[in-house]
Amino acid sequence: MMEGEGILHETDSSLGGKGLRYAAILREVSKSFKNMKALRNLTLKVPQGKVFGLIGPNGAGKTTTLRILATLVRHDSGYVEVLGMELPKMRVEVRKRIAYLPEDAGLYGRLTGWENLLYYAMIYAGKRRAEEVAMKGAEISGLSEEDLNRKAHEYSKGMSRRVAIARALMLEADLTILDEPTSGLDVVSSYSIRETIKDYVKRTGKAVIFTSHNLLEVEEVCDEVALIHQGRILDSGSASSLKSNYRARNLEEVFIKALGLAEA
Ligand SMILES: Nc1ncnc2c1ncn2[C@@H]1O[C@H](COP(=O)(O)OP(=O)(O)OP(=O)(O)O)[C@@H](O)[C@H]1O
Ligand SMILES: [Mg+2]
Repeated sequence: MMEGEGILHETDSSLGGKGLRYAAILREVSKSFKNMKALRNLTLKVPQGKVFGLIGPNGAGKTTTLRILATLVRHDSGYVEVLGMELPKMRVEVRKRIAYLPEDAGLYGRLTGWENLLYYAMIYAGKRRAEEVAMKGAEISGLSEEDLNRKAHEYSKGMSRRVAIARALMLEADLTILDEPTSGLDVVSSYSIRETIKDYVKRTGKAVIFTSHNLLEVEEVCDEVALIHQGRILDSGSASSLKSNYRARNLEEVFIKALGLAEA
């Protein structure tokens, strides 16, 4: 057993290291829920060390895609690789190297914000590093010490969301997966979360993939964007290349035009 673990660690550090070009690859991936086709031959490459945005209407398949990468849902067909490791085969190893913020992430209301961070740090980073990791989370959250010592059930939506995002980012996972991190937040809160994500990627060189319905925000924060519609990728690239290809003023216009072409 000890020997096996040793081998695993060696593979671990060679895979997913800085040499890796893509933090995640999905190739021709399909997924159905009963007779509902959520993903249809979806192909996507998430570059290493960048912020990647997935945008598309309700029900397009964004959360399903993220849940597959987070090892929570198994794809029916196609190829999925996270940090150089194929899913679902390597899901246990992948799980150790990613952080995931679900769409509906909540905090433990009876714990303080700080205790929430510490609890997660203990589970995911181990007892020895927990305090150091939680401190990082406290900083990322941007909440005052006073607020961090309040019970989470007293938090506003924005405060809860900030702690939930900090909880994911503090782990400094090789791939962080954020499902609508800024949904329901005011302009100032979403602005500061955007800055947090940008700073984080710059500081750590790790990859972040996130979804959002705010296309202005996506344009602002993402190095690369993919447009998803009815379980397929309509197009992808940097916001500026997409805008010039579609002769559009902003991503919203890109999306409308790409949709028009897809349905023509
Ligand atoms: N567990 C499930 N059981 C049944 N159907 C599901 C399940 N999860 C997703 N679906 C279906 O798959 C499709 C894609 O859903 P998904 O949640 O991935 O969309 P989304 O792009 O995240 O949408 P939104 O913007 O509303 O969050 C939808 O039609 C949805 O009803
Ligand atoms: Mg969703």
